[in-house]
Amino acid sequence: MAYETLLIEISDQTGIIRLNRPDDLNALNNTLMDEMTAALDDFEANDDIGCIVIIGSKKAFAAGADIKELKAFDFASAYQKDLISKNWERVTSCRKPVIAAVSGYALGGGCELAMMCDFILAAENAKFGQPEINLGIPPGAGGTQRLTRFVGKSKAMEMCLTGRFMDAEEAERSGLVARVVPTDSLMDEAKKVAASINAKSRPVTMMVKESVNAAYETALSQGVLFERRLFHAAFATEDKDEGMEAFIEKRDAHFKNK
Ligand code: CAA
Repeated sequence: MAYETLLIEISDQTGIIRLNRPDDLNALNNTLMDEMTAALDDFEANDDIGCIVIIGSKKAFAAGADIKELKAFDFASAYQKDLISKNWERVTSCRKPVIAAVSGYALGGGCELAMMCDFILAAENAKFGQPEINLGIPPGAGGTQRLTRFVGKSKAMEMCLTGRFMDAEEAERSGLVARVVPTDSLMDEAKKVAASINAKSRPVTMMVKESVNAAYETALSQGVLFERRLFHAAFATEDKDEGMEAFIEKRDAHFKNK
């Protein structure tokens, strides 16, 4: 498929989606979100790909939903066209690990898209924020919910009520991002993390992802039980035998994803 708003690359076993609307700081319009859905469908179906990276430009991961497009909606059209729900959340159902590599602005829908990924790797110049309040709207792609879970009520409330941006150092300190890396090595670092995940057993990476996500959706005892069942299931894989044998034989494991 030819993409208008994305650049797509496969590097080793990593599928890379680069947002590519440079004139609008990668503002997320309907075409881009349709294309993101299609790219994630393709990468998910491609057995050669273990892990996915979503990245923007140096100046902007994404400066939010496209305000010029949003302006045309009224309540009836937003509701009937199922704005956001229609094509923004494909990333949350992806079973392969998805890394958001954030440089520059991740604002509004851009911050929300990054938070939908499995973890965020931030460049030193990254800036996160939910400035929708300045436009006379609340966040609409999960910002009030996910930011609160990441950084706690006080900081999330302050950011959503004032529109203040958070820099990379504060984002790491607050638990929003996994790690901060030098701005110019963001892509290399993202590829390195992805390669490290790609070297693991795929079914087990999927189990880990599903299990960590269950922590958001369930009570502790149910989450622990869910994890325990997956833990038991992993003992039925050849990869468990390979991983443990490799440890005992003091060599690297070579997983077959079986
Ligand atoms: N939508 C559409 N266009 C955008 C945009 C957006 N979210 N963000 C930036 N642009 C465009 C600008 O209009 C400008 O285009 P022109 O050159 O045609 O005028 C171009 O990108 C460059 O932007 P600036 O000149 O503003 O660049 P700057 O460096 O001075 O400022 C910025 C950068 C602080 C990020 C500023 O662009 C900005 O505040 N952007 C809007 C951020 C925002 O409010 N995001 C929330 C959007 S609503 C949303 O996301 C809802 C939701 O929850 C789903």
